[in-house]
This record gives sequence, C-alpha cells and structure tokens, in this order.
Amino acid sequence: MKLGGAGPGLAGARPAQLYPKDMQQVADFRSDTVTRPTPAMRRAMAEARVGDDVLGDDPTVKELERQAAERLGKEAALFVPSGTMGNAIAVKVWTQEGDEVIVEERSHIYNLEVGHLAVISRVVPRPLPSHRGALDPDLVERNIRRRALHIAGTRLIAIENTHNLWGGAVVPLENFQALRRVADRHGLRIHLDGARIFNAQAATGIPAREFARYVDSVMFCFSKGLAAPVGSILVGPRDFIDEARRVRKLLGGGMRQAGVLAAAALVALNEMVDRLVEDHARARRLAEGLREIPGIHLDLDTVETNMVYFEVRHPRVTAQELVQRMAEHGVLALVSPTGAIRMVTHHDITDDHVDRALSVIRRILG
Ligand SMILES: Cc1ncc(COP(=O)(O)O)c(C=O)c1O
Repeated sequence: MKLGGAGPGLAGARPAQLYPKDMQQVADFRSDTVTRPTPAMRRAMAEARVGDDVLGDDPTVKELERQAAERLGKEAALFVPSGTMGNAIAVKVWTQEGDEVIVEERSHIYNLEVGHLAVISRVVPRPLPSHRGALDPDLVERNIRRRALHIAGTRLIAIENTHNLWGGAVVPLENFQALRRVADRHGLRIHLDGARIFNAQAATGIPAREFARYVDSVMFCFSKGLAAPVGSILVGPRDFIDEARRVRKLLGGGMRQAGVLAAAALVALNEMVDRLVEDHARARRLAEGLREIPGIHLDLDTVETNMVYFEVRHPRVTAQELVQRMAEHGVLALVSPTGAIRMVTHHDITDDHVDRALSVIRRILG
C-alpha cells in the first residue's frame, strides 16, 4: 500500500487505499476523528426532529445548544460544522483587525488551522513556548502589549486542553486560574480550544465546566473521542454567541436541517463522555507494550490521555517505513511533524487492536 498525506501536517496512509472490505479488520490508530457513528447515533439521526436552523427552527439543534451551554456552565452555545470554524469564529468575535493574540507555539489554532488568525481575523499571533501546553503566566504577562502609536495591543489569549501536539497533555486547572488572573489584570479575553476538553475531564476527574469557569469561551468537538460523525460547538456569554451566529453565517457555516447532526452530537454528549477513560486505559497499555520493544523510545509520563507518541531509533527501520509496514498489516498510525509516530485510541479501538498493533510492531522491528 502506498503512503500519502492523511491529515494536517501528519503523514500516513490514505484511508481509501487501506480500508479493506471488512473495515473491522483495520486497527485505525491515526486519530480519534476516524470514529464512526454508533448504532444509537444512527437511530437518533434517523428519528431527529428537524427544522431550518438558520431561521432558528431546529428543535434538536436548540436542545444540543442548551445542553452544551449548561454542561460547560456558560450562557449560550452555537453548533458549528467543525472545530476549526468554532475557533475561527471565537477569534473573530473577540478581536478587531490588527490586535495581537497570544497563542501557545505548538497550538492547533496557530499551526494547523490554515492561518485563519491572519486570513479571517487579520490579527497578529504572538506564539509563546510552554511546558506541555501550559503557558507560564509570568511570561504571558511580560508579553502583553498595551495598544499605542506603534503597537497593535493584545486582546486575547488562546489556550488548548487537552493539547494535541503535546501528545494529549492535560493543562492543569491551576494554570487556567493563573492565566485568568493575568487576563483580568489586563482586561483580556481567554478562548479555550477544548476540542478534547472531556478527555481532560476523564483524566483528572475535574468537570469540564470547572476548566470553562476560567475562560470566556470554549470550543469543543463531538467528532473526535465522542465519536459523532460531524460537529463542534462554541459556548460563551449570550452576546458573544449572538455575534458568533452572524460570523458563522458569514463563513458559510449556517446549516439548515442540522438536527440530523445535532442528534448524533446529543448522543455523544450524553453517552460517550464517561467511556473516555477506557480509551485512556488502552493508550496506557499500548504505551507500556511499546516501551518494551527494542528500537522504540517512549516516555510513559507523556501518555496522559488517548494519544501515544513515540520515536523510532532503529538501525534499519525509519518512522516512515514502520508506519508503512504497519499499514500493510492493517494497523494505521501517523508520523507527526516532529518525526514521532502518533497512535490514538478511541471508541473503535479494542483490546484486540492494541494486542495486534504491538505484535505487528514487534515483528517489524524484531
Ligand atoms: C486541538 C484541536 N483543535 C481544533 C481542531 C480542529 O477540529 P476540526 O478538525 O473539526 O476542524 C482539532 C482537530 O484535530 C484539534 O485537535
């Protein structure tokens, strides 16, 4: 099987070439976005009550927005087609052209969202280093710039939890609290890219709404570990969401009978959150097995949620070759921009898949 680009900044195998007739035979560890809708989601989609959501008539979308806002402890919510659009809308609403936005240097919003900060919001990103996604509050404070004759001025801090390019790292609640204090001292907003905020909840036992308490807006995704086919949501204050609705329309994200999608997202929210701990346990078992294989370098402390990143230090096999040969055995993974291999556990990954992945990798590197 040939290799091809399979995701933003991530090289892997093309799904169309790799999925054989029996899809269950493929152990697809590339991402938690590959999850297929559960039978309960398909039923809910088929039976969803719908209306024209742009006209405010879709009862299922309304119910989803109500539940999401309540779950995150915010006033209102807006269903959006993707996480990228949710983040783009949030930045656009919180900023004006020319403002500065403090971002973490490995963040998804800065690296993997096609530059919407510049293209859509026309803001200046100020990337800062971090400890596994947690920005140093003092460093943030030192980098806040007050608007002046020569200076754009900082308006927004964007953070991410769990942090994708830091291997699914959990940013601690104390970091949220400290950043909130800095933001308040300088009249700044904080937006959380919480694409996987429920993975942070599953890993820490701290409810997502507690993380949300210290930020102004949150985007989270139904279409990742929660296994819905499509959709993300933006939550925040009511006037922010009212404006976000206009920006969503501007970007072409107004959807009509979107209740068929919201129905699956409601199942995701109500049935798929508590099981994320299973994905974390499988990621752990995978990582523990990988660590025993000669030629693999893996730091167990970096495996906090459902992502496993490891390096290949082998005399004959490179990371690219390993991923290609794994694909030939029906085990899919990705090579990250840093050259590490990424494997992600999710609803469609079983214990057998983990065992198969380990034995395939052992055989290739053996
Ligand atoms: C942390 C993070 N934020 C945002 C996104 C964007 O979500 P989407 O692919 O739905 O646009 C992703 C996607 O992988 C992500 O990992």
